[in-house]
Amino acid sequence: MKDTFILAIESSCDETAASVVKNGRTILSNVISSQIALHTLYGGVVPEIASRKHIEKINQVIEEALSEANVTLDDLDAIGVTYGPGLVGALLVGVAEAKAIAYAKKLPLVGVHHIEGHVSANYIEHPDLEPPFLCLIVSGGHLVIVKDYGEFEILGRTRDDAAGEAFDKVARAIGLGYPGGPKVDKLAREGNPDAIVFPKGKLGDCPYDFSFSGVKSAVLNYINNAQMKGEEINRADLAASFQKSVVDVLVEHTMLAAKDYHMDKIAIAGGVASNGALREAMTKACEKRGYKFYRPSPIFCTDNAAMIGVAAYYEYIKGTRHGWDLNAVPNLKLGER
Ligand code: KG4
Ligand code: ZN
Repeated sequence: MKDTFILAIESSCDETAASVVKNGRTILSNVISSQIALHTLYGGVVPEIASRKHIEKINQVIEEALSEANVTLDDLDAIGVTYGPGLVGALLVGVAEAKAIAYAKKLPLVGVHHIEGHVSANYIEHPDLEPPFLCLIVSGGHLVIVKDYGEFEILGRTRDDAAGEAFDKVARAIGLGYPGGPKVDKLAREGNPDAIVFPKGKLGDCPYDFSFSGVKSAVLNYINNAQMKGEEINRADLAASFQKSVVDVLVEHTMLAAKDYHMDKIAIAGGVASNGALREAMTKACEKRGYKFYRPSPIFCTDNAAMIGVAAYYEYIKGTRHGWDLNAVPNLKLGER
């Protein structure tokens, strides 16, 4: 059978990324140009700067992805691109670029949902993984059953702050700066997770939903109280205790859903899925219950175009095609086309 080559582009937030994916699961190149250093100055992503930087970098990133993969535009079968959700100006750069290449080379254009990309990152290093399976999409905050490629049944969602947002806000509050998640993860390794007990943010009606604004506020209150009393804060203990309360809830809800829906294959996805404590806790919880646990390597958890290429492949073989009117959809819902 003839090989299928897809060039994928991702520009939804602060990484300009391109990748060439062969037959859906073989990553021939995965080029990521990160803008982190630039946005660090402002303590978070500045949308206007992000889009300008994407414009500056995108051609170079695509050229690198093609040359590393040792393919040319003539070898490609389709162009995949993230069209939502994300920052509208950032998404538009990738979408316009993908349309231009697809039009010039008369190639099919496949728009990809960013979160479907995050979930698909699991296929890269796990050749045995096929739907159905349960997936905790940590950053965006969904607990879903992946019924088939690109088909999701949403069991739970985030009611307020997603886990990633809580990590970022807590990081800012304890002076770690942006990007918060990885910094809290690192600092927490030196702290005692049982030093401070924070609330777990349980919700009454839907047992699979998440709410992290309570724990975030509890952390902020803790810091304020300590400051008012002139007490020194042990930042490592604080980071470890906050992280534990988030991880415990993520694991508990996922295990409950696995039991209720009789799922024995569990995957995690999204930026927060690279968190060390979460990976460890999930591994243990799954081992204990005899579930098979899947997680992408950290480089495929945070934003990249390889995951978009994988998702684009499965959409492509299903027949998904977008027209020249494809637009950036900043609040694209999971499961929408
Ligand atoms: O999945 P993602 O790209 O966001 C969405 O697509 O919605 O992930 C970004 C989030 C950020 O909030 C970042 O702080 C968090 O992932 N993150 C982490 C870690 N690495 C990235 N959070 C906790 N621990 C990490 N190691
Ligand atoms: Zn993402």
